This record gives sequence, C-alpha cells and structure tokens, in this order.
Amino acid sequence: MKIKPIVAGNWKMHKSLSEGVSFVGKIRNRILDKEKVKVIFCPPFNSLFSIVEALDGSSFGVGAQNAHHEQQGAFTGEISVDMLKSMGVQYVIIGHSERRHIFGETDEWINQKIHAVLNGELIPIFCIGETLEDRQMNQTTEVLLHQIKLGLGGLDSIDPKKMIIAYEPVWAIGTGETATNDQVAEAHGNVKTILGEMFGDISKGVPILYGGSVNEKNGAELIKTDDVDGFLIGGASLKEDSFCSIIEQVTTYYRG
Ligand code: 13P
Repeated sequence: MKIKPIVAGNWKMHKSLSEGVSFVGKIRNRILDKEKVKVIFCPPFNSLFSIVEALDGSSFGVGAQNAHHEQQGAFTGEISVDMLKSMGVQYVIIGHSERRHIFGETDEWINQKIHAVLNGELIPIFCIGETLEDRQMNQTTEVLLHQIKLGLGGLDSIDPKKMIIAYEPVWAIGTGETATNDQVAEAHGNVKTILGEMFGDISKGVPILYGGSVNEKNGAELIKTDDVDGFLIGGASLKEDSFCSIIEQVTTYYRG
C-alpha cells in the first residue's frame, strides 16, 4: 500500500492566537506540493478553532496535542475528543513523551485515549520512544514493544488511513541531538514488525513518523531512511522557512 508522507508540526505551548493564525496563513500561501505530502498543524488549544477556519478549503490538516478519554465530565482543564471534533480538528497527538514524563500519562491511560480518539473518528498520532537510559541499557526494542502492545491493546484491527505512529526517542527531543539513520531505521523496522505481528499485513500501510530535533539540515537524509514516512517536528515547525524547507525535502526525497 502506497503511503503519502506526513509532516506534522507540534507547536507545544507556543504561539498566541494571532501569531498562530498569521503563521498558517503565510504557509498556506507558499508554493508547496500538497499532492505529495500531507501537512498537519498541531497548535495549542487556544487557537485550534481559528486555525481550522484559516485553513478552510485547503488540504492542510489540524491536530490537537492531547485529549481526555471521557466524552464529558468533571475534568477541570481537560478537553474531549467530541469537543475537538466539533471544532473541525482531525488529528490528536496521543502519548507524547512530555505528556508521559511531565504529566504522568501511563500506557494504560494512553490506550484509553487511543480508543476514545478512534471511537470519535479522529486520527491518533500515537507517540512512542525510549529514554536515554533505556537505550544505554539496550532496552529500546522492548520499550517500543511494550508501548505499542499496551497503547494499541484491545484494537481488533488497524486502519492505515486512521492511525499514525510517531517514533520520538526522548533523548532526541528538543536537544539538537538527532538519532542516526541506522538507529531510526532499526526502530522503525521494529515498529513495523510489531504492528505486523499484532494486526497483519494491513499494518504495512500505517505511516511511521520520526520526531526528535528534525530540522532543515537533517530532514533530507532522515526522510531517505527506510520506513520513515515523514516527521513530527517541534522547534523547527515554529519557523516558516525551516518548516517549509523540511516539507520540500520530504516532497523531493521520500522514497515510499
Ligand atoms: P523537537 O523537534 O523540538 O526536537 O521536538 C520534537 C517533538 O517533540 C515533536 O513532537
């Protein structure tokens, strides 16, 4: 199955409403080959609605950075999948390492969120990745296996059009230290194998993104790596030129 590569920008807690709307407006006007690559913006909650409006009629996607697993209730500070959907949001990042490590999200909770996102007919961008300690102890494959088995537990099947996986080694996030091509190829290959064992051949069509200090200098090499179907980008997604340059690199060098 042919995969269309994806470039998703995770803005984290950056950009005011006006900054966010102006930013997506500028990128919308750039000449990018949107047939060849799917571009998704994941702004903070404050500007989701206005950014969906600003991108109306375009092929750009909009994603949230988190969602609660319940549909409604006494959960101060949280937002539900239905609420996101009612704003026109199509994707939700689930299990980002900052949610896991700063906000204490467990694999079990992430699994509930994945089910909620799929039940709500949005598309999860399901994040996995090992810490530096895991890697130094040669535990990377086990950690990925554990995160995927628990995170996707209870799903009878997987629809490649409705699931995105992002491999983000924790030690590479925001550090300027990117995983080597070999490390990325090995991890992505293992993710594919694990998905194949869980869901069979259909899982070959699930896009697997790499995230962790991707920028305009390393994007071209990384996208040529086996089993890399695009990127989930933090810092470099906040700047127009670097984000567009990475999109162009994916357009040019993705091997599929
Ligand atoms: P950086 O690109 O800033 O390393 O962040 C990666 C990330 O966490 C994307 O979700």
